[in-house]
Amino acid sequence: MNLLVTGGCGFIGSNFVRYWLGQHPQDQVVVYDKLTYAGRRENLHDLWNDPRLELVVGDIGDLALVRQTCQTKNIDLIVNFAAETHVDQSILGPLVFTETNVRGTHVLLEVVRELGIRLHHISTDEVYGHIRDGHQSVETDELAPRSPYAASKAAADQLVQAYFITYGLPVTITRGANNVGPYQYPEKAVPLFSTNALLGEPLPVYGDGQQMRDYAHVYDHCTGIETVLLRGEAGQVYNVGTGREMTNLEMVDIVLTTLGKDYALVKHVADRPGHDRRYSMNVEKLRRLAWEPRYDPKEAVAEATKWYAQNEWWWSPIRSGEFREYYDRQYAQRLAEGGAQ
Ligand code: NAD
Ligand code: DAU
Repeated sequence: MNLLVTGGCGFIGSNFVRYWLGQHPQDQVVVYDKLTYAGRRENLHDLWNDPRLELVVGDIGDLALVRQTCQTKNIDLIVNFAAETHVDQSILGPLVFTETNVRGTHVLLEVVRELGIRLHHISTDEVYGHIRDGHQSVETDELAPRSPYAASKAAADQLVQAYFITYGLPVTITRGANNVGPYQYPEKAVPLFSTNALLGEPLPVYGDGQQMRDYAHVYDHCTGIETVLLRGEAGQVYNVGTGREMTNLEMVDIVLTTLGKDYALVKHVADRPGHDRRYSMNVEKLRRLAWEPRYDPKEAVAEATKWYAQNEWWWSPIRSGEFREYYDRQYAQRLAEGGAQ
């Protein structure tokens, strides 16, 4: 197969490309990526000399370039990871989220409709909104997104499903839980807390830190996507996570213990506006396709944290560059003022 992996220079996309080429040595992969701040060539540093991999730098909103790339590279399948992905960034500057996550996905659907190729779309548990205690989201639950990021992802899901219903296109969707692992941009909680702890800087915990997340290892997300690509049914949605959650303070504790750092680094700061209290997904539908996660959330967070401890070469240049401007905008006042515990 010839795959077009959009967003393949990002966190999950790059892990997926490495996983896929390892498991499917006959396949060719074209990474199509705009190389935003989160898209980094070095995330695939070990693979750029591999003749099975190439990079096209482009925007998924550029219909002519997506079409031309699919035609000239004989693409059979698009796996769409490309997105603006950070909730806090979506609160600071939401419009680009609609542009990439909604319009960009729509452009991919138009190309897929024209050329008759398959699309697998990567979505998120955030589309379900925050979940009451005792419930786990199933794929048929109503979508109830609560941040600009989540709303843009929900809109994209609905477009993908509408194209299946209207045009019968061969499309599938996976909704992933909070992923952790190598090459995650340090705006996200686990790499942020790991690298802050390594630098001896405070860990800014929003609000009381009792929010619940399913911290799933990116490896399990990759095997989940592979399972759907090989055995999923067109038009269907599949949740991918571990089905188990922990509080953010429990996650922080694992990060600090793994690094041998002191809890005194934790600083409660003003909460994220509209902060979703709990995500939790039922993953039985994917299990029925003979998939099982390898890592439990505690192992996933510990493994991810170790990777940041061992790979300063990767995060150090990010932390000292443009990231600093965002960090100050997001945290300077919060850290100065502190917040409720
Ligand atoms: P990321 O922010 O690390 O990477 C996003 C990638 O998309 C980058 O390489 C970026 O350059 C590229 N990109 C952004 N806009 C683009 C555009 N207009 N055209 C082409 N490329 C563009 O994201 P991630 O965490 O790897 O997430 C990948 C996908 O998985 C997203 O769709 C996200 O919504 C979804 N997801 C993420 C998580 C998570 O925990 N990180 C969980 C569930 C689902
Ligand atoms: O659930 C899937 C989603 O997981 C993906 O769709 C998103 O792309 C991804 O960013 C992630 O969203 P979250 O908002 O859950 O992840 P984040 O790493 O930003 O935050 C995890 C939790 O930690 C959340 O409850 C907010 C909290 N947090 C985060 C940051 C960055 C803090 O307490 N302090 C922080 O500084």
